[in-house]
Amino acid sequence: MRKYSLILLFSFLMSGYANAQREKVNYDKSKIPVYKLPDVLTRFNGRKVKSEKVWLKKQRPDILKQFTDEVYGKIPGVMGISEVKVWESSDEALNGLAHRKQISLFFTKDDRHLEVNVLMYLPKKSAKVSVFVGYNFTGNHTVINDPAIRLTESWVNDNPSIGIINNQVTEQSRASDEDSWPVEEIIKAGYGLVTIYYGDFDPDKNDFSDGIHPFFYQENQANPRYNEWGSVAAWAWGLSKAMDYLEQDPMVDSKKVAVLGHSRLGKAALWAGATDPRFAMVISNESGCGGAALSRRKIGETVHMINTSFPHWFCDNFLKYNDNENLLPVDQHMLLALIAPRPLYVASAEGDKWADPRGEFLSAKYASAVYELLGKEGLPAKEMPEVNQPVMGNIGYHIRTGKHDLTLYDWQQYIQFADKHFGGK
Ligand code: GCU
Repeated sequence: MRKYSLILLFSFLMSGYANAQREKVNYDKSKIPVYKLPDVLTRFNGRKVKSEKVWLKKQRPDILKQFTDEVYGKIPGVMGISEVKVWESSDEALNGLAHRKQISLFFTKDDRHLEVNVLMYLPKKSAKVSVFVGYNFTGNHTVINDPAIRLTESWVNDNPSIGIINNQVTEQSRASDEDSWPVEEIIKAGYGLVTIYYGDFDPDKNDFSDGIHPFFYQENQANPRYNEWGSVAAWAWGLSKAMDYLEQDPMVDSKKVAVLGHSRLGKAALWAGATDPRFAMVISNESGCGGAALSRRKIGETVHMINTSFPHWFCDNFLKYNDNENLLPVDQHMLLALIAPRPLYVASAEGDKWADPRGEFLSAKYASAVYELLGKEGLPAKEMPEVNQPVMGNIGYHIRTGKHDLTLYDWQQYIQFADKHFGGK
């Protein structure tokens, strides 16, 4: 009983702390601190980057290393998929419009095993198809009303309003996120959709004894080291493992895979795109702090706030930059630049001030210098576009009306962007 009261007291104090953090949120642009962004084309030794060769051989690896060591954390080893099992497939999905496949990817090390469920809908075509691959928040069965989809057995954050209790989903959550996944529109546009529940790779909680992290521990290790991967990097790693599978799938054109993610999963998609050049397109939907938004602006969510509310997302080194953003060797425009010259889309929402829409736009704008160095058009806008007025070069951007969400409108722009860069149907 006493222990229980202590826990309650602790949670009460912690939630008070989190609220106090939230209260300090700045949304006033006149209070943005004076800051100087590191120039993406100036090397850490002060020299200017003037050629594609120096970008590729020196500057890009240096920037990637800084993000790895200071922000997301490095992966302490190498591991492949140990077994793939296609355990369900049908040609009759969506009333005969699509193929559906459900696949398990198994990861094994010593006596540890992890099973990851992949759900795929593919248009019926004789040729290989381009696909969007993205994580979902609460299980594959939530993306569409299709009784053939197995309910996830993984740990899921509680959400009693859709029947997720004791961290287990129930039938009630089926199709609960269907508004974010317009599967039929995607298929009709000629693309496939590949989705995975992100918690299959690492449950989203501050606990490093579950998910993929322990597979890489040395003897007596219980947590990643200060420069080793947090959950965002683990989710990004999982996307690369999905890519390993997609390269073997005879129905998929693995040269035309767009990785997409919303919010925290947008952060993971960006880091996957930065670390794995096999992703031919990267789409960040309202990824905000630690994603597309510039950290130095300190408007909406800050480094301190994200490290406090989600201590497991980044590597421990990132804590050094709490209220100390100017010390960061990089800022998030440099993360976007790592994706160049591949097509990149950054999206914001007007009602999503927490993610700093303008910071997301500026990041895309400043990343353009690298696209231009590589002979490509970056973002075709110097000023932030009006709401619902997308711009699309090799970097695309829109800010839409509405709140923090992944919507049909967002998907329609991504499909158009994919048509432009993947050559349409
Ligand atoms: C929180 C968090 C954001 C994150 C978001 C989400 O709001 O502060 O950084 O992007 O959750 O993933 O929905």
